[in-house]
Amino acid sequence: MGLQTMQYNFTDNITSNSAKGSAIFGVFTSNNLNGLNKALSTSEKNKISEIIKKSSFDGKLEQSLCIYDISGSKFDKLYIIGLGEKDKYGEKKFLKAVNNFTKLCKKENLKNIDIDLDSFLTNKIKINWAVRNISILLCGIDYEYSETKNKTKNKDGYEITKLTLLSKNKNSLKNLKTCFQQGEAIANGIKLAKNLGNLPSNICTPTYLAKTAFNLSKKNKKLSIKIHDEKEMKSMGMHCLLSVGNGSEEPSKLITLKYNGANKSDKPIVLVGKGITFDTGGISIKPSNAMDEMKYDMCGAASVLGTIKAISELNVKINVIGVIASAENMPSGTATNPGDVVKTMSGQTVEILNTDAEGRLVLCDALTYVNKFKPKYVIDIATLTGAVLVALGKVASGILSNDDKLTQMLKNSSNISHDYIWELPMWEEYQSELDSNFADIANIGKRYAGTITAACFLSRFTEDYSWAHLDIAGTAWNDGSNKGGTGRPVSLLTHFILNNAKSL
Ligand code: BES
Ligand code: MN
Ligand code: ZN
Repeated sequence: MGLQTMQYNFTDNITSNSAKGSAIFGVFTSNNLNGLNKALSTSEKNKISEIIKKSSFDGKLEQSLCIYDISGSKFDKLYIIGLGEKDKYGEKKFLKAVNNFTKLCKKENLKNIDIDLDSFLTNKIKINWAVRNISILLCGIDYEYSETKNKTKNKDGYEITKLTLLSKNKNSLKNLKTCFQQGEAIANGIKLAKNLGNLPSNICTPTYLAKTAFNLSKKNKKLSIKIHDEKEMKSMGMHCLLSVGNGSEEPSKLITLKYNGANKSDKPIVLVGKGITFDTGGISIKPSNAMDEMKYDMCGAASVLGTIKAISELNVKINVIGVIASAENMPSGTATNPGDVVKTMSGQTVEILNTDAEGRLVLCDALTYVNKFKPKYVIDIATLTGAVLVALGKVASGILSNDDKLTQMLKNSSNISHDYIWELPMWEEYQSELDSNFADIANIGKRYAGTITAACFLSRFTEDYSWAHLDIAGTAWNDGSNKGGTGRPVSLLTHFILNNAKSL
């Protein structure tokens, strides 16, 4: 679904929307309809009040009520959405309510929708933020994984043909189009990231990721691409990255996708994604239970592509470079053995004590490589450790950084996007866990604080610039009945970039 096919409009004048459609209103438990936009006449409001009183609807969050056939109404159907208690209402509840009506729109196949924006707002919620988030959720609702399924629920997809957002606030109506477009671009980035995460490893190989990046680069003149093959990586000295793909038939790739939205002299923000298209663990092989999930081990890479897709659609005035280190981690006669020592592009040697700690091995060479771009900030995104699931669960991604200011900026973007991150410390006391008798660095620490020791490993390669590491092993996908990619942290990263370009 997108703006190409959707006719949409922001207005304070309901009569401009003449076609009969469905209207959506938010109502608090206080059951007070006074907040309703002048979209409704007094007699309509009275009738609605009557109906609500007779129903079991009392405004609780997650409740909704559909009212048909209000005589004389401009609308075919009215959907009343519960917002919960007014004094407990805020951004989180708003997002829940919008998520609820978005699902309802899809379920009821609504095509022509009017949303009474004002009824969902309080002074705690900014209208720009609200419209961006309505757009993210509405534009994302049609995503359904279908690539390898003959049977999909929604073969033709769900399309809204006409959307009207109503607000009395004439002044703010002006900026809302931009906010809506930002939301759509973020939704498109999330969809791309979800889909790449969902694709199985026999389709989504390092070569497939390169092809996806290449196709993306053709869609916008500001994008350019460079794909390094194994031979080129070898001549650059990326032996550590290459050691991960040694056991695989699939060739490893280093993908550089540049978005040039500002002056050449503007230092770029560099995003580095872990792109392990399947992680068996290598010779340190993983147990077979739930090993299928290791097709998601390229979600860092997917989030880089999703973010660059979003910002390129918005023509943001900023320079961003995405770098993806991609390989498949397999055991075989040519695979790297535990105890093998490899040389990194930085010159430091690494003792690979565990071939399952492969993410850091591909990332370290990519992090050395990006020095040549003289970056303003480098952010790597990786499904790096199971330990981050133990620490933070599936709610927050872990952030570890060598720059408190950058951390704070990312935390701000996290607060705005509700794509949560939480900081873990990277004190020097942890560094000695990586001591090795046979190389400059060991690729694993001891038993505890696995997320921190993984970040400590990366920190040995990021001393020349301001850097943050996002461990998304917990947040990049859902399990259970919702099993699949989440598209995180595309929203966080896109908000961060928009913020840096002062266009949020
Ligand atoms: N890709 C995994 C991390 C992971 C685990 C992602 C669970 C998603 C869910 C990573 O390559 C890995 O295997 N990490 C090891 C590191 C250990 C060997 C030091 C881990 O976390 O067990
Ligand atoms: Mn692994
Ligand atoms: Zn991995």
